[in-house]
Amino acid sequence: MYKFIQQCRACGDPAVKLVPVFDLGVQPLANSFRTKDEEQSGYAPLKVLFCEKCSLAQLSVVVDPVILYQHYTYETSKSATMRLHFQNLWDCIRAHGPHESVIEIGSNDGDFLMHASRNGAASVLGIDASENFSRVARLRGINTLFGILDDYTADMASRAIPKADVVLARHVFCHADDWQKFMRNIDTMANRETLIVIEVPYAGDTIKRGEFDQIYHEHLSYLGFKAMTALLEPTPFRIHSVRRFSVHGGVVAFFIRRRDFGGEPFPDSVAIAESENITVDDWCRLAVHARQEIDALRGRVAALPGSAVVGGYGASAKSTVWLNACGFSKRQVRFVTDTTPSKIGRLIPGTEIPVLAESAIKSEHPDCMICFAWNYKREIIEKEAEYLSNGGQFIFPHEP
Ligand code: TYD
Repeated sequence: MYKFIQQCRACGDPAVKLVPVFDLGVQPLANSFRTKDEEQSGYAPLKVLFCEKCSLAQLSVVVDPVILYQHYTYETSKSATMRLHFQNLWDCIRAHGPHESVIEIGSNDGDFLMHASRNGAASVLGIDASENFSRVARLRGINTLFGILDDYTADMASRAIPKADVVLARHVFCHADDWQKFMRNIDTMANRETLIVIEVPYAGDTIKRGEFDQIYHEHLSYLGFKAMTALLEPTPFRIHSVRRFSVHGGVVAFFIRRRDFGGEPFPDSVAIAESENITVDDWCRLAVHARQEIDALRGRVAALPGSAVVGGYGASAKSTVWLNACGFSKRQVRFVTDTTPSKIGRLIPGTEIPVLAESAIKSEHPDCMICFAWNYKREIIEKEAEYLSNGGQFIFPHEP
């Protein structure tokens, strides 16, 4: 079901020993929501190893992607926060030059490409490993190839859009095991002028903000500028510029060009890369902080009156991490609400806690909701003003 990694995925140096820095033991796969009649599909170690040479942190195991993605439920959020982010990212892409044709790897239900095609892109193509989301995207008018990024889909995409102005990979890059292969397939789709945009959660933010709940089996790597630079070294590409955004607890978009594209990389990118200093100690501090946050949440729930009805808000992958790390069952957390149709009616992985529709915040009369979608805090507080004004309470286990 999983394999152990042998060497750093970014610098690939076989002589460098990877240092264990974070360990939550054996955990269920964070998005393996199952029905009551189904068995939990699998557990794997959740342990992070750090490369002292290029500062990439990476999981000790790679779960078989077929198991991880066969019934994928993650749907690009339709929240106002994400709409604004799409706009900001698209504005940045446009500012870099031509943007008429766009290929997106991991296009999910086609949301970003819809935004792009409404705002200046004349031809767009998605590639996505989820059969159901590829179908949804096609029904929405977004041409989508079903499959992971491999030699075949890269070749198909390059035939469909031979001169892509932009090749984009949002939040799919850290799900990939073989980065050199990933870059080779991007190479197939890119010509000299193509702008490549790779957006990932920024490891510097994960550490600084103590976001241990970003660590789960789908996120194989926790990436910063140094690791990205090391990874690109043997490829025809280099970082041209970078831009950080606050969504998802802090992300970075790398704008990458071919080395023969000409021009110098933006000086600010070089400065950021050089000033970054992520160390083993930072990761060890995150591990200590995680234990403290887990104990604090356990303590806050235990301190509530026995009669209190406690729910969870947002069946995010983060909710699986929290609920399992805290060892909560239905006795402590009766349900978790979510807006995603494919999660509703299922159980939080590793628990018997059901996922209910958003309306449960009214029908179940919870005294307290633990918010596992803390990255949408502002939006959620506004949306649930009525619940709060009626005496309801939110616990934010992690403060953004
Ligand atoms: P998200 O933070 O996007 O991702 P991850 O699974 O990577 O941790 O997930 C947020 C979840 O919260 C998603 O399933 C949708 C849900 N959600 C709500 O139920 N209500 C809301 O108002 C918002 C903003 C999100």
